[in-house]
Amino acid sequence: MNAVKVKEGIYWVGAIDWNIRNFHGYSTERGTSYGAYLIVDEKITLIDTVKAPFAEEMLSRISDILPPEKIDIVISNHVEMDHSGALPAIRKRCPNASIYTSSPAGIKGLTAHYGDNGYLPVKSGDSVSIGKRTLTFVPTPMLHWPDNMVTYCPEEKILFSNDAFGQHYAAAEHFDDEADFPVLMEEAKKYYGNIIMCFGRQVQNAWKTLSGLDIDIIAPSHGLIWRSHIKDILEAYTLWSSNEPSTGAVIVYDSMWNSTEKIAKTICGAFADKNIPVRLYDLKTNHISNIVPDILTSKYIAVGSPTLNNQMMPSVAAFLCYLKGLSPKNREAFAFGSYGWSGQSIELAEKELEACGFHICMDRIRINYIPSEEQLHEIFENVQNIIS
Ligand code: FEO
Repeated sequence: MNAVKVKEGIYWVGAIDWNIRNFHGYSTERGTSYGAYLIVDEKITLIDTVKAPFAEEMLSRISDILPPEKIDIVISNHVEMDHSGALPAIRKRCPNASIYTSSPAGIKGLTAHYGDNGYLPVKSGDSVSIGKRTLTFVPTPMLHWPDNMVTYCPEEKILFSNDAFGQHYAAAEHFDDEADFPVLMEEAKKYYGNIIMCFGRQVQNAWKTLSGLDIDIIAPSHGLIWRSHIKDILEAYTLWSSNEPSTGAVIVYDSMWNSTEKIAKTICGAFADKNIPVRLYDLKTNHISNIVPDILTSKYIAVGSPTLNNQMMPSVAAFLCYLKGLSPKNREAFAFGSYGWSGQSIELAEKELEACGFHICMDRIRINYIPSEEQLHEIFENVQNIIS
């Protein structure tokens, strides 16, 4: 396997996971990659590793440049096993390498995963000289684990950002200007929505620190390296982390005998008729992680479910549970659905929307059995009345 030159003496030596389609519940239709970076200086340095099954692929890429045994320093920006999983393999090949990680969370996390290996703690602003270059550490706690940090090399103006600015995107290309840009941004947005959205405040805090850095390259640990579109991705993160939705609407539902679907489509038509960008998602055919990017930038969210055994449809309950965890807040929402006799699902959905931190902007829509033309007309009018 070949290493990929990022700059003179700096190489991407990660692994490409072409066929993963479910990354702990995130639907990865385009696969993913695990970015590890080798810096050849007086002290040979490896920044992050890869998921354990890809250790040999990483070692093979390192071997393209030098024998892995020559590694002096390993920087672990993040404990999660997609980036630390190959640490034991590196430890085996380089038993004397120094492993730096954040303190206390990185030390605690790596010790819990791999035992006490004499990890060296770093705190905010600490630096390590590796020869001609310096590596400076910036903690980014809760982006998205307590241990996360990023590593900045001022001489090269490279930010090794780990999860931040990543994309689950497997590609033979390695740089942003080699890829289809809209696809790249689509994956970056999906990644932000599903992995980072709930930590918007922490993103804004990290910004205050990172915005003072002179950055030519952002080298994340998933997906492609940013070198030509730094401004675009930084502006996108600023917008997304502000949690200021635009005017769009998202309608998410499941349906048993198409009655809830008829209501969903009527709501969709009401938004479209007012020229509001709207998206309609049936949970039978859409993965919840594919809906989140539209939630990220939409003002209105309508969720519908028929009643099944006094409950919401399990697909709707799962979606709302996932959404509550992502905590987008600051949205206008309402619930709807058809029911046969008890009809609890609509109130249950509304309660979950409230628990998401949304403002309930319309009375819940409850239709017994099949909506009539008159009822659909009334729903259409009522939805149009809430659009501001
Ligand atoms: Fe890509 Fe939080 O690991």
